Amino acid sequence: MKRILLALFCAACMTSMEAKTLVAYFSATGTTKAAAERLAKQHDARLWEIEPAEPYTAADLDWRNDKSRSSLEMNDPEERPTIKRCTDVTPYDTVYVGFPIWWGICPRIINSWLDNNLPQLEGKTMIPFATSGSSGIEEAEAYLKKTYPTLNWKKGLLLNKR
Ligand SMILES: Cc1cc2nc3c(=O)[nH]c(=O)nc-3n(C[C@H](O)[C@H](O)[C@H](O)COP(=O)(O)O)c2cc1C
Repeated sequence: MKRILLALFCAACMTSMEAKTLVAYFSATGTTKAAAERLAKQHDARLWEIEPAEPYTAADLDWRNDKSRSSLEMNDPEERPTIKRCTDVTPYDTVYVGFPIWWGICPRIINSWLDNNLPQLEGKTMIPFATSGSSGIEEAEAYLKKTYPTLNWKKGLLLNKR
């Protein structure tokens, strides 16, 4: 009986340990979503999609048009697109934050998410990850460290290769 109880206790402990990683991501066209799903599987993590209240259309994403929504947002460092649903980040020790690279850095909706969760994210291990057409993640990493210096940023991951 004791052994059974011990086994049940250990199983419960392991479940709670496994649940301590969160993979939160924004993806406009599905590439970062696929990378986030792979990452969450690898780390047995909870997956969370950061969704804009107003989804991005193809026209919104037109980087060649300097009046498109994405261009306007990226040209304004203070822009914070509204997020559809809040996230409870309190149960997690490690938080992966994923996004497509937009103009070298993270889309402003990532700022919205970080701003919304800022006090609760302090003290956690923060790992940025990204997908891109060709850019690296270094500029985005430097931007996040500079903009959110109170967070414990670790080296980022560029997950372009499957
Ligand atoms: C507005 C916009 C800006 C982009 N800027 C860059 C960039 O600076 N460097 C780059 O390599 N790719 C850039 N891309 C390409 C995306 O980073 C790439 O296609 C990404 O994998 C898309 O991820 P998603 O499908 O999760 O949205 C940009 C795409 C968009 C829509």
